[in-house]
Amino acid sequence: MEQNRAPVFEAVMKYADLRPAYFCVPGHRYENGVNTQFRTFAGDSIFKIDLTETMITDDLHCPVSAIKEAQELAANLWGADHTFFLVNGSTCGNEAMVLSAVKPGEKIMIAGNCHHSVYNALILSGADPVYIMPRTVHDWGISGGVSPAEAERMFQQYPDCRALLVTSPDYYGIVSDIRALAEICHRHGTMLLVDEAHGPHCYFSGRLPEGALACGADLCVQSLHKTAGSLTQSSLLHVKSSLADIEMIRQSLRIVQSSSPSYILMTSLDTARRDLALHGKEMAEHALELACSVRTRINSIPGLQCAGRELEGNASVFRIDETRLIISAAQLGLTGFGLKASLFDRYNVEVEMADSRNVIAIVSYANTPEDIEALISALRDIAEEYSDGRPLAESTVLPGQAVCAMSPREAFFAKKKIIPWSEAKGCVSAEMIAPYPPGIPVIRPGEIFTDEILDHLKHVRASGGYIHGLSDETMETVTVIDR
Ligand SMILES: Cc1ncc(COP(=O)(O)O)c(C=O)c1O
Repeated sequence: MEQNRAPVFEAVMKYADLRPAYFCVPGHRYENGVNTQFRTFAGDSIFKIDLTETMITDDLHCPVSAIKEAQELAANLWGADHTFFLVNGSTCGNEAMVLSAVKPGEKIMIAGNCHHSVYNALILSGADPVYIMPRTVHDWGISGGVSPAEAERMFQQYPDCRALLVTSPDYYGIVSDIRALAEICHRHGTMLLVDEAHGPHCYFSGRLPEGALACGADLCVQSLHKTAGSLTQSSLLHVKSSLADIEMIRQSLRIVQSSSPSYILMTSLDTARRDLALHGKEMAEHALELACSVRTRINSIPGLQCAGRELEGNASVFRIDETRLIISAAQLGLTGFGLKASLFDRYNVEVEMADSRNVIAIVSYANTPEDIEALISALRDIAEEYSDGRPLAESTVLPGQAVCAMSPREAFFAKKKIIPWSEAKGCVSAEMIAPYPPGIPVIRPGEIFTDEILDHLKHVRASGGYIHGLSDETMETVTVIDR
């Protein structure tokens, strides 16, 4: 295939040249009607391609020309049978995967450390979740991979599960044994759905973990914007399966995607795909080299640790994406939240996220040696400053799977009441409460509050973490099901 082409980009450039008198949405009419300050800052060109389904730009929801060709090129590059462009992120991709794979009342096995979009998908679909919990990687206090042996056991226990959905790699770069999970799913006549939001770059270097599609996943979503160069919110949904219902996927995408998809986002998907096709190996190797050199340097700073491949083989961690840096200053008494704040406030270094022990830095192909020096020099300074610090207490085990009292959909529509947090134990949550990032819920609608969950949330808040989904930000009250 002609991977050096970029059909959507070609179409919008052609349109920008033609520049017909325009009587369609959007109303800003190329750059003419854009706020002057915004236009001066952003430049004119971006507004020239903010178009709609014109006579030559095709239609995402019914593609026949430029978008169809661009999606085919993406499918060819990642080794899929079909690929769909997503303009509402992997969030809508997860929703469409679930909507298309399971019907109301059917069971789906879901890893307990999935992104909240997966649980929202259960509310939309009415499917019943059966949770498979990854174990904790103890020294780091993070989730491990999904165990194939555990998946097999769960399929024996719940033979009516219609699919398994896992996240791999996850926010921390932890990769599960997708090949083994796919083999188990297929043996049970079900599909393996993979949230590969963090892994689109994995297909471009043999030194990175193998991509989910190459390992037998039936459906997978990828946030190209996270690691592979497209603009925020632009993602892909790939299909490689004889079990998938393509028409259901199309229809599901019509439900969860805007009817005014952004041509800026679709162009960015198209051009990022072309860059990866032409230079993906160099890009991936460059990111890896930068990340591996930083890891070694961080590990030489007294009191700091940066996780690496030594995690593989524990807690069902199959592989590590080494471009993710899990950095801990816990030996020096600094929480991840504290380290993240210091890096930004005092050194102008921004890392992706923090938890109570670690920060996560994502190294991409576009990072520069100057970025790396800024990170290392800030970490050295901080380590020096805290050299007398007392180590944090051992990491706590992440809360296990909460007990479900009703399905997420039943809980979503049930009658609710507000009660004090102190009375929440034993009540059924109406809220999906997730420390963010990573956006992995600790409790979901329909699940019962336990001391373990309440303590964990208090701990996250006390150590400086953000929590999404609270109806009362002060955590004095909580919304529960009125039974
Ligand atoms: C594992 C995982 N899946 C899905 C998503 C949603 O992706 P997007 O931001 O592309 O909607 C995220 C976002 O952080 C994520 O971490």
